[in-house]
Amino acid sequence: MLPAEGALWDLVAGMQRTMLAGVLVTSGLADALGERARDPGVLASELELETGVTIRVLRAAAASRLVRFDGEGRVRLSRIGAPLRTDHPRSIASWAAYVAAPANFRGYAELEAQLREGAEPSGHRRAFGNSTWEYFGEHPEEGARFGRAMRELTAIDVAALTRRYPWPHRGVICDVAGGIGTLLAAIMKRRPSARGILVDSPDVLAEAESFLRSQGLAERVERRPGDLFGELDVRADVYVMKWILHDWSDAACRDILARVRATMPAGARVLTIDQHQEPDWPSPVTSMVDLHMLIDCEGGRERSPGEVHELMRDAGLHPGRVRHAGLHMLVEGVAS
Ligand SMILES: C[S@@+](CC[C@H](N)C(=O)[O-])C[C@H]1O[C@@H](n2cnc3c(N)ncnc32)[C@H](O)[C@@H]1O
Repeated sequence: MLPAEGALWDLVAGMQRTMLAGVLVTSGLADALGERARDPGVLASELELETGVTIRVLRAAAASRLVRFDGEGRVRLSRIGAPLRTDHPRSIASWAAYVAAPANFRGYAELEAQLREGAEPSGHRRAFGNSTWEYFGEHPEEGARFGRAMRELTAIDVAALTRRYPWPHRGVICDVAGGIGTLLAAIMKRRPSARGILVDSPDVLAEAESFLRSQGLAERVERRPGDLFGELDVRADVYVMKWILHDWSDAACRDILARVRATMPAGARVLTIDQHQEPDWPSPVTSMVDLHMLIDCEGGRERSPGEVHELMRDAGLHPGRVRHAGLHMLVEGVAS
C-alpha cells in the first residue's frame, strides 16, 4: 500500500492528468493514434509537434494510464485513453478538452474565495465577470465544444433515460434548454408517433438544425428560440429539463419552474433530470459534478429528489414520481 503522503502526491497530480488528457485531444495526438501503435517521432512530425516534448508528454500519459508503450517504443491509446478519440463510439474527447481549457482553470482558481465568501458569485463569474452562458456566446468555438461535450455525456445515459420513463406514445414532448436535441432525438426514435419541441438559445438551435436533420427528425422536432427567464409559450404533454436545475440557484430554479408551469396545460408533467445528491452522501461522480456546478454556474448545485420536489411545490406544481436511471434521477412535477 502507498504511504499516505505518496497516495496524496498522486491525488494532487490530478491537474496534470487533466492537462494531459486535454492536450491529447486538442493536439490531435489521440485521433492520430487511432486504434494503432505508432512511433512517437513519426506522430510528432505528422502533427508538426516538437519531438522531445511529444515523447515526454506521451511518457507522462503512459504513467497516467492514458497510453501504453510496446517493446519497440511505439505508443497506443490504452483502454482508458481510447475515448479521447473523437471517433470512439463512447468518446468524451470534447468533455476532456473542455475540462482542461484555460477558462475552466481560471474558474477553479476562485474556489478559496468562494469558500470564504460564499457560492455566489460563481468561480467563473469572479474570474470573467460574466455567466458561463454569456462567455460561450462571446467565445463560440468554446461554446460549440461545450455543446459537443454535453452531447457526449448525454449519449452515455441516453438509452437508460429513454427506457426508464413512460414517454407518451402520441402528443408533444418539449425539451426546455435541450441543447442540440440529443435526448429529444432519442425519445422521438422510441416514440415514432410523438412530436418534439426543442427550446434553447438561437445559437444553440442553429447547431441543433443540422443534428436533427442528420437524424431524419427535422420535420418532427420544432425548434423554438426561448429564454429560461422569459415567457415560454409552448403547449406540450411533457416538459423535460435535463441538466438545467443543477445550473441554477434555488431562487432561479423556482423562477424557471414557475415560467414552465405558467404555460403547462392541466395534467401536463414536467420532468427534471439531474444527478442525485443527498446532503450527507459523498458520491465519487455526483459530488464532483456538484463541485463543478459551484465553480461554473451561479448558485448551481446537485440536489436530492426531496429538494427538487420542494422547488416544484413552490412553483405551483404537484410533486410526482421519482425514478432513477444510471446516475440520474428523474423527478416529476404535475400541473393541476
Ligand atoms: C448544461 S446544458 C444542458 C443541455 C441539454 N439539456 C443536455 O442535457 O445536454 C444547459 C443548456 O441551457 C441552455 N441555456 C442556458 N441559459 C439559457 C437561457 N437563459 N435560456 C435558454 N437556454 C439557456 C444552454 O444553451 C444549454 O444548452
